[in-house]
Amino acid sequence: MIYIVMGVTGSGKTTVGQRLAERLRLPFYDADDYHPRPSIDKMRQGIPLNDADRAPWLAQLASLIPVWEANGGAVLACSALKEEYRKTLQTVPDISWIYLDGSRDTILQRLQARHAHFMPPAMLESQLQSLEKPAYGIHVDVSLSPEQIVQEVISKLDHMNPQSEFGVIGLGVMGKSLALNLASRGVRVAMYNRHVPGKEEGIATQVIAENPSLTNIKGFDKLEEFVQSLEKPRKVLLMIYAGAIDAQLDVLIPLLESGDVVIDGGNSYYKDTARRTALLSGKGLHFVGAGISGGEEGARKGPSIMPGGPREGYEQIAKYLELIAARDSKGKPCTTYIGPDGAGHFVKMVHNGIEYAEMQALAEVYSLLRFMLGIAPAEIAGIFKDWQKNSLGSYLLEITIDILQKKEGDELLLDKILDQAEQKGTGGWSAAVALEYGVPYDTLSAAVMARALSAMKTERVKAAALYQKQSPSVTINEKSFVTSLKQAYQATRIINHEIGFSLMREVSVQLNWELNFSEIARIWTNGCIIRSQLMEELAEIYKHEQRLLMAPPIVDKIRNARQGFASVVALGLQYGIPLPVLSSALNYFIGYSTADSAANLLQAQRDYFGAHTYQRKDKTTGEYFHTQWK
Ligand code: 6PG
Repeated sequence: MIYIVMGVTGSGKTTVGQRLAERLRLPFYDADDYHPRPSIDKMRQGIPLNDADRAPWLAQLASLIPVWEANGGAVLACSALKEEYRKTLQTVPDISWIYLDGSRDTILQRLQARHAHFMPPAMLESQLQSLEKPAYGIHVDVSLSPEQIVQEVISKLDHMNPQSEFGVIGLGVMGKSLALNLASRGVRVAMYNRHVPGKEEGIATQVIAENPSLTNIKGFDKLEEFVQSLEKPRKVLLMIYAGAIDAQLDVLIPLLESGDVVIDGGNSYYKDTARRTALLSGKGLHFVGAGISGGEEGARKGPSIMPGGPREGYEQIAKYLELIAARDSKGKPCTTYIGPDGAGHFVKMVHNGIEYAEMQALAEVYSLLRFMLGIAPAEIAGIFKDWQKNSLGSYLLEITIDILQKKEGDELLLDKILDQAEQKGTGGWSAAVALEYGVPYDTLSAAVMARALSAMKTERVKAAALYQKQSPSVTINEKSFVTSLKQAYQATRIINHEIGFSLMREVSVQLNWELNFSEIARIWTNGCIIRSQLMEELAEIYKHEQRLLMAPPIVDKIRNARQGFASVVALGLQYGIPLPVLSSALNYFIGYSTADSAANLLQAQRDYFGAHTYQRKDKTTGEYFHTQWK
């Protein structure tokens, strides 16, 4: 759509046009910038332009309009005083005319207040004489403020254009928040939620009633009506649980048309996403699998978004994703095209794997402080606050500080929460993929297993009675232990991220996805659950380094932490504190940095019992040997 803001000199075309362009997220062009030099000189001298002067200028604008339209639309500020001029500019069918109407006196006052413009106030008279007010389009009174004018234009446009730009299916916590995020940024949103008698009734209507200030949202509980309400090519975001996607697609696809884009914003398994991408592509539709992280608050205020799939489909929705995403420290949106097929959901799956281990690491650090050192939760929150300020800042640490201070009555709420961790699948999927690709996944799989073990509560209670803890007779210096613990936690986090990125690297190579790790880290610096100060560093480091543990600043940190890290894990285990993630991070690091390992013994054993052969250190790689061991 092309929007032309028209009117005489001084009516506020540029100001209104710029603000309108911002609201509509379109580029802004000022016709004044296209006047040839002689015309500008003429106007400066107070000589009005005639039709002949304006002809080449209008012709140039007329030739640019289809180009702007092809690039997604634009807002143009142009006097377009006569009907004949407007006909010249009408080179595309979709032009919205916005006429800024005002009395001679109002405009004159504004012109007298205006400096640094080539059009002297005296020119107003000639412009008013040339003006043929359009009998169509949106007319707005210029005595309103620019903001009021833009608001009036937007609501008139909404009225004239009843179709919604973007559809959201599924109004659970995430779907509702994303729909409201889009709508509060000016997008015309249609929302659909299924009708389940007695359970999910009138959900969309309820969301509308809760948000009376958002006049650009519509609600449906009939899928056909929802689809019909959308502008073509349609953009439909599915925010439903992964297990329901296929059934939803079965009923949605027949209602769509070639070129429409379906986005799956949930936590779907990336191989399912690849299959669905192929299925929809066969029907001329685009399927974009987009991981979205940030929980309810992120979805409402700015999540991190990881879209993957067909580029053509992505291009059509990119501006909406960029609009609602969180911003990084330089103001760039925390979203980027990730890669083909299921790459977006794959990257989100690894994000969740890292998330699982980050959460578990914090739980272990908390256990050591509380149950080994006997420090009270409020004091632990104090220690964490210090870490938060000193290089270990992260969203997960921040929420843990809050959790450690949340009381129910006089008691800590945390102590009342059942210690059985649940999981929806993403962490486990990523561990299975790591196995499939042969990538060591120590911390992340340990975190998944720790949740599984936690779920065996009844058995754990019985076992606890059988195997009561015996504390070793070691004296601990609390201050130096906490210092070492901070280093251990820091090292664990580095190793955990390295492991997650290693899986992405391997799969990217195998599937030719060409993932950009610095960009992935960048879009994870804000909006998502694993956002942290470390992630900011990774976005820089991955610009130059493939392997985090080889990057000089990281090498220094791990070297410094190494001793303290080992003593924390050893002592914690002696005290009977389970440390699956901390200890597997340490093990991974020691294994990774051991040049000569004991894997030669494994090879010898394999050859001994199964004639599996082995390679030799003193021969060239690729040559295999077998020994008669007896
Ligand atoms: C996010 C979260 C989000 C969700 C997890 C929880 O990035 O916003 O990861 O996707 O909270 O899927 O997963 P579990 O229920 O498996 O812990």
